[in-house]
Amino acid sequence: MPEVRERSGAPVRRERFIAGNWKMNKGASESLEFLRKLSVLLEQGEDIPDAVNMALFPQAVNIIPMADHIRSSGVNVLLGIQNIHCKPSGAFTGENSIPCAIEAGAKLALVGHSERRHIFREDDLLVSNKYLACLEQGIEPLLCVGETEEERNRGLTKDVIERQVSSVFSSDRVIMAEQERILIAYEPVWAIGTGMNATAGDARECCALIRDLLSGLGGPSLAARSLISYGGSVKSSNSEDYLEQEEIDGLLIGGASLDPDEFYRIICNAF
Ligand code: PGA
Repeated sequence: MPEVRERSGAPVRRERFIAGNWKMNKGASESLEFLRKLSVLLEQGEDIPDAVNMALFPQAVNIIPMADHIRSSGVNVLLGIQNIHCKPSGAFTGENSIPCAIEAGAKLALVGHSERRHIFREDDLLVSNKYLACLEQGIEPLLCVGETEEERNRGLTKDVIERQVSSVFSSDRVIMAEQERILIAYEPVWAIGTGMNATAGDARECCALIRDLLSGLGGPSLAARSLISYGGSVKSSNSEDYLEQEEIDGLLIGGASLDPDEFYRIICNAF
């Protein structure tokens, strides 16, 4: 695993994962304009260590033009799809299949994002089936977990995280030993798109809990290789607070990732 060095020269413990979730925003031309601006910033700025993984989750219809641009420009950004169906093909009007997402250029898939869980009523079983479908069909899943405001007020944060993580990984269909690493984002629902971000300390505790759960389910070595991110109203002005926490490897950024300058500043804060 490549070693990331901080600006101070001290080694960073793990790889970094900085991802933008664009949700239902940006058409093709705006998406390409973003990539052009980001490429210029990356070329003109400091060298970004290879161990800083950069990813974007655009609308599915924009993956093909973005992947073409990434191939020709060489900008080191992974693309992901925001939602997939479990079945590889069939009569599921409006859904995206994993093989087609891969063919389009997606390497990652969001699974269990709070907007899917709460607006589209995806329950733990569906999330776990989608996670398994990703593994079986060859795209890397990024599992999102997190409590609602009501659950938080009732003191249920840890229970919710535990339930959401174990419903995916306790399933005997997900063979943890076969996974090189696991990508999870802790995103408290009340912090998403609200400007009310979790404190760095609370985010650290929840990410540590997730790593402990992974360790219990898949062993300490898998847990140590896994990348656990925080998401919820992250911007360049608070990103460092999270990334300087031992247990937080990365960030999943919604609103602030729509602006290339802001996304670039967050990337620069990651090493
Ligand atoms: P936000 O969204 O950064 O706009 O709060 C985060 C997310 O939904 O992943």
